[in-house]
Amino acid sequence: MTEEEVLDLRRALGKFATGVTVVTCHGAKGPCGITANSFSSVSLEPPLVLWNIAKVSHSLQAYLDAEYFAINVLAAGQQALSSHFAQSDHTVFSGIDYDTSEHGVPLIPDSVACFECRTHQLHDCGDHHIIIGVVERFRSNAGQPLLFYNGDYTLLA
Ligand SMILES: Cc1cc2nc3c(=O)[nH]c(=O)nc-3n(C[C@H](O)[C@H](O)[C@H](O)COP(=O)(O)O)c2cc1C
Repeated sequence: MTEEEVLDLRRALGKFATGVTVVTCHGAKGPCGITANSFSSVSLEPPLVLWNIAKVSHSLQAYLDAEYFAINVLAAGQQALSSHFAQSDHTVFSGIDYDTSEHGVPLIPDSVACFECRTHQLHDCGDHHIIIGVVERFRSNAGQPLLFYNGDYTLLA
C-alpha cells in the first residue's frame, strides 16, 4: 500500500469506536503499562481475551515474557492516564497510584473494569503480536468508560 492508502486505512479503522485500556505487567525492569484500544473478548468458556502490541513497542519484550498481565478499562475521568501510558517510556509508574495483584501486576484503581490474566497464547501477526490471556480474576463497576473514536477521546452521550 502507498503511504496515503495506509493513512486512509487508519482513518477508516478509526470509525470503529472503542474503549481505552492500560495493559499492565511486571517486567524485568519493573512495572509496565501501555495504553491499548485493541482489547477484545474472545471466549467465555474458557474465559479468553486478547489485545495487540506493536512490534516496534519499547515494552514488547516485557509483554512477550510476562506470565501475567492485567487489562485496566479506563473510566471517563482517566484520559490523563491514557496519555501518560501512551508515552514511549512505559515503565514510568512514579507519581501514578496503583495496587498490585497477587502476581505482582500493577492494577489501576478506579478503572471501570479490570481483567487479571495469565498469558495463554502469543501470535506473531504482521507488525503486531496478538496476546491472548485467560481471565483469572475480574471486577467491574457502574462508572462511565473513556472512549476512543476517529482518532480522539470521547465520552458516552
Ligand atoms: C487510544 C490509544 C490506543 C492505543 N492502542 C494501542 C494498541 O492496542 N497496541 C499498541 O501496541 N499500541 C497502542 N497504542 C500506542 C501505545 O500506547 C504507545 O503510544 C506506543 O506504543 C508508543 O510507545 P512505544 O513505542 O514505547 O511502545 C495506543 C495509543 C493510544 C493513544
